Amino acid sequence: MVAGMTQSHPRISKAVIPAAGLGTRFLPATKATPKEMLPVVDKPAIQYVVEEAVSAGLDDVLMITGRNKRPLEDHFDRNYELESALGKKGDAERLAKVQESSDLATMHYVRQGDPKGLGHAVLCAAPHVGREPFAVLLGDDLIDPRDPLLQRMIKVQEQHGGSVIALMEVAPEQIHLYGCAAVEATGDTDVVKVTGLVEKPDPADAPSNYAVIGRYVLDPHIFDILRKTEPGRGGEIQLTDALQQLATDEKVGGPVHGVVFKGRRYDTGDRGDYLRAIVRLACEREDLGPDFRTWLRSYVAEEMQQS
Ligand code: G1P
Repeated sequence: MVAGMTQSHPRISKAVIPAAGLGTRFLPATKATPKEMLPVVDKPAIQYVVEEAVSAGLDDVLMITGRNKRPLEDHFDRNYELESALGKKGDAERLAKVQESSDLATMHYVRQGDPKGLGHAVLCAAPHVGREPFAVLLGDDLIDPRDPLLQRMIKVQEQHGGSVIALMEVAPEQIHLYGCAAVEATGDTDVVKVTGLVEKPDPADAPSNYAVIGRYVLDPHIFDILRKTEPGRGGEIQLTDALQQLATDEKVGGPVHGVVFKGRRYDTGDRGDYLRAIVRLACEREDLGPDFRTWLRSYVAEEMQQS
């Protein structure tokens, strides 16, 4: 694909959301409830992610699920009993909230079977995706809708072809929690060319402080590579390892570019960040925010007096 050539480019319409993880960091809450269903204020975390995909124009969503993930399917389906009860009561506001998630997108599900890693989860999407570029959204990362990232990544993919990953600069001591990219500058300040990738490196071996965050726009060649990718870090088939091949061999589905994100991201896979996300989003809500902020100010003032 030649830079700037957007005319004949197939529109990216499919989003893949891996959601087979066990959520052990949130036990016991996740013993019988998928971690993706934990509420962020009053909406399950996964709904924010599906809404993000839809607002980037991706209305075909495939979730990679596993055992004990049925509540995800139910959440994005109709609930006639509840709808009719709310209808009879004339509670239009709540009825709209119930119907919102089932009207969002065309949902598809496939089970991962064995949890063999993120790369393996993405490979489970191959029959559904076919040979078109597609997006992957990791459910633990919430991107604030006021800082649209996926839209920008899709634009960059249309311009350069190949694959596009999302990068964020992190403190060097944090890089071991992420995939890490070696990069070169391009003409665009928010776009870099990715020349190498390594999954969760020790800080001393990290090629940069650019961390891979959970949004990807991928060339379908990734499937051919994933089929041959050996288990890597943690004994799992790593998406980062397959991307490393795309980045270094442009003939098979490269190049790989990175969009450097400077907006608001909440990591709901981490308990501390999950709490921070709820507080921030609750403060900003028109309905809850004013009361909640007043309470929070007095709570913080009390805490400061005591410390
Ligand atoms: C996954 C990826 C990693 C990436 C991270 C972003 O790791 O393997 O490269 O940086 O998501 O959230 P996980 O957090 O699932 O261990």
